[in-house]
Amino acid sequence: QRPTTDSMRTQLPPELVDRTGCPFDPAAGVTDLSARGPVHQVTATNGEVVWLVTGHDEARAVLSDPRMSADRFRNPRLLARVPQEMREQLLSPKARAGGFIAMDAPEHTRYRRLLTGQFTVRRMRMLTPRIHEIVTDRLDAMIAAGPPADLVRDFALPVPSLVICELLGVPYDDRDSFQHRTAQLLNLETPLEQLIEARDELRAYMIGLVRSKREHPADDLLSGLIQDGDLDDDELAGVANLLLVAGHETTANMLGLGTFALLEHPDQLAKLRADPSLAEGAVEELLRYLSIIHMGPFRFATAEVELGGVVIPADSTVIISVPAVNRDAEQFPDPGALAVDRPRGHHLSFGHGIHQCLGQQLARVEMAVGFTELLRRLPGLRLDVPARQVPTRDTMVVFGVHSLPVSWDA
Ligand code: HEM
Repeated sequence: QRPTTDSMRTQLPPELVDRTGCPFDPAAGVTDLSARGPVHQVTATNGEVVWLVTGHDEARAVLSDPRMSADRFRNPRLLARVPQEMREQLLSPKARAGGFIAMDAPEHTRYRRLLTGQFTVRRMRMLTPRIHEIVTDRLDAMIAAGPPADLVRDFALPVPSLVICELLGVPYDDRDSFQHRTAQLLNLETPLEQLIEARDELRAYMIGLVRSKREHPADDLLSGLIQDGDLDDDELAGVANLLLVAGHETTANMLGLGTFALLEHPDQLAKLRADPSLAEGAVEELLRYLSIIHMGPFRFATAEVELGGVVIPADSTVIISVPAVNRDAEQFPDPGALAVDRPRGHHLSFGHGIHQCLGQQLARVEMAVGFTELLRRLPGLRLDVPARQVPTRDTMVVFGVHSLPVSWDA
């Protein structure tokens, strides 16, 4: 049988991703599976038999096991599904350069070291007052326009976009070139041909930016990486794209869905309003409770691995269910409750092991400042439509809301 682009996509069946029942809870099928054990064989929509991990210890074991590769294309079964005419576009070293989220050691280590050198305490410290300014500017603009507003369009998306642009040194005025393409890349319904096109356009844009920064370096992360001198233009463009894509939709959806969740839990909202010192803990709790990375991380078993009493054969796809892991009752008593003052536990919202989120400190600052200022500046913040009319991002890699109509006491 001739491989098709759809047969390359390993997606969980609808009952394991559908969060329309309650947008804050794991899909009903995931909750059922978790109750039965930590590791499950399930059939993906393309017919591939995969392993879904719902146990906390087992998920951490997978994410710290060097036999579990982050490079899906090392999987011979997946490779066999890549149509011949797409091999070059998908698999050439040029196409994959810089995408270290999908690399294994030692290649991953090389990139991670260079990036850690750039995510310095100094740079993060410099960025914090800018995050305050960016949050304040967005709120000023929203308040000046007056209620109602779409919190996603006016606040949740622009704040992390502006921050990542500033960090990288990407002109925010170019956002039309990357916001739309990022959205395409993260939509499971984008046809593969379009996906490749969006990726290539983003890459071309970044290559242009890298070249201009070589000529005119500034005090930003991309210029810093160029000055290190270890990466070529393709690698630099790949790294910059990864940071851009990973850095803004994730935090944006935490701000959007997080605000929605707080508005739907007035007691928790009141607690946070009354005591802003709870903000950092509330951010951790929202990360746990909402699990916006709701179908992954993905790994590929390069050898037979025993996990939670189950034998996973070599060449299998293994998928971590972050929503299930984050509702583990042994780690988090009464896991289905949102409690902004919950003692900090080991949620897996930023992953675990060598690929653990590189931008987590930055994301934490953006969210703590974002929620604190939002609640301080907008008394009486409320939904402007019935909760069930808020459109959820069901087909997106990063879960959240497409828009959040809100109002407040002007
Ligand atoms: C990796 C979640 C914000 C950059 C990851 C992973 C998760 C994650 C789960 C691990 C993926 C895996 O193991 O395969 C999140 C969430 C965020 C967030 C929930 C916001 C609330 C950010 C930001 C940046 C960023 C702001 C950039 C500044 C990255 C990068 C990686 C990564 C570069 C790959 C790290 C590696 O492979 O070594 N993120 N992230 N993330 N994240 Fe984030």
